[in-house]
Amino acid sequence: MPGPLSSPVCLTVIWFLSWSLRPSRAQIRTDEVSGVQYGRLGSNVTLACGKSQTGIPVAWHLNHSSALPWHKVTSDGSLVLLHVDHSAQGNYSCYDNRGLLLHSVKLSLGYPPGLLSISCQVPNHTHVRCSWVESVKTFLPAKYNASFRGNGQDWRPCVLNVAHRHCDIYHPAFWQPIHTLRIIETNGLGSEATYVQFRLHVLLKPDPPQSVLVKELEGYSKRLIVSWNIPSSWPVHDAFPLVFHIRYRPLGSMYWSEIFSQESPVVIFDALAGHLHQVQVRARDELNSDSQWSEWSPVLLVQPWEVYTTPQPEEDPEDFFVPFNTKPETSTAKSHNPVLDDEGNLGLVILLVLFSVVILTTVLSLIFVVWVRQRRRDHVTKQELNSMVKMKSMPI
Ligand SMILES: *[C@@H]1O[C@H](CO)[C@@H](O)[C@H](O)[C@H]1NC(C)=O
Ligand SMILES: *[C@@H]1O[C@H](CO)[C@@H](O)[C@H](O)[C@H]1NC(C)=O
Ligand SMILES: *[C@@H]1O[C@H](CO)[C@@H](O)[C@H](O)[C@H]1NC(C)=O
Ligand SMILES: *[C@@H]1O[C@H](CO)[C@@H](O)[C@H](O)[C@H]1NC(C)=O
Ligand SMILES: *[C@@H]1O[C@H](CO)[C@@H](O)[C@H](O)[C@H]1NC(C)=O
Repeated sequence: MPGPLSSPVCLTVIWFLSWSLRPSRAQIRTDEVSGVQYGRLGSNVTLACGKSQTGIPVAWHLNHSSALPWHKVTSDGSLVLLHVDHSAQGNYSCYDNRGLLLHSVKLSLGYPPGLLSISCQVPNHTHVRCSWVESVKTFLPAKYNASFRGNGQDWRPCVLNVAHRHCDIYHPAFWQPIHTLRIIETNGLGSEATYVQFRLHVLLKPDPPQSVLVKELEGYSKRLIVSWNIPSSWPVHDAFPLVFHIRYRPLGSMYWSEIFSQESPVVIFDALAGHLHQVQVRARDELNSDSQWSEWSPVLLVQPWEVYTTPQPEEDPEDFFVPFNTKPETSTAKSHNPVLDDEGNLGLVILLVLFSVVILTTVLSLIFVVWVRQRRRDHVTKQELNSMVKMKSMPI
């Protein structure tokens, strides 16, 4: 007697349901791949096959291949990888005896974090940068938590830059003698906290002076003038004076001479005449003698001023006029003469002008004299006429 389940319609529905449910079940399983299991390199790592029941044989695959590293499978289906190395990393999947995926996990191998080696730089009174180097290469992604505090104060965050492996402390309490920095590194295999204590006023170390310039002093064969700017990371404020250390030596000498100064520029009075000199400058907080000198500025090379003894007494007029020549090979004589002619012409013109001025002046004065005399004569004749008229009109 055929039951309801054996009817073709029902069978089709069941087949359809199982077909349509299957991918979704598989989907759920694959999602579990995103689960990552971390294992320690060199140890035995056990991978459980999900909720598989004891006694049912399972098959393990690595990266879709049945080739597995050195291992054993326990009675509950767990895979034990023995003495794992890097090649054991990958996607592990376990299947039941019908080939159904039961569980999948990604294995990442490495080491738990070790202590960090931390160093801090203090380029000014408002900024501390602490960088670290791992003492153990873990091969695993890590998270960090960095904080610091002065004695008896609360922990404050040290702002992390994980890519560059450093963290920044802004405006630390400089008056506190001792600060503690704590960096906690955490990865899939564990967590480790590293503590360091430091004294800010001892770590204070300015950046080197900037724009260092050394120049000769014209007229002085034993002097050099050195100038510089304070490092840009140092506050421009009277409350934070710097002292500068200048050192110099003739190139090749073993011994440096030195000058200390609060101000730029500085004049070196005892340079070795005619020699190249190496010059460097560094800086330190002037008020805090426990603090550190900056690194030296890059070496500068300069030679004091000297009289040029090369035979070049005066500029040769021929050389001087060479650039004006279009044909240098035939020029010397030809170019020389026109120049002389020009000079001669100029003299002649000046002479002519002077001569004409003299002539003109003479002529003018002559005319003037003649004119004056004429006027006087006119005047006299007029007076004579007048008097004659008067005389005529006078009654006799
Ligand atoms: C790993 O397993 C092997 C075999 O079971 C055993 O001999 C060895 O001691 C184990 N190693 C560790 C580190 O547990
Ligand atoms: C391992 O699984 C992840 C997540 O599903 C996948 O992105 C990756 O391609 C797989 N790797 C291999 C080698 O199968
Ligand atoms: C498996 O795939 C991972 C990448 O997902 C790779 O690093 C590993 O070497 C592969 N393992 C094997 C045995 O092929
Ligand atoms: C770092 O640790 C401090 C104190 O242990 C905690 O308050 C803070 O939330 C942690 N920060 C992060 C990003 O985990
Ligand atoms: C202190 O140094 C840091 C890092 O070089 C810099 O960013 C900051 O501006 C400096 N602070 C002052 C007040 O110059």
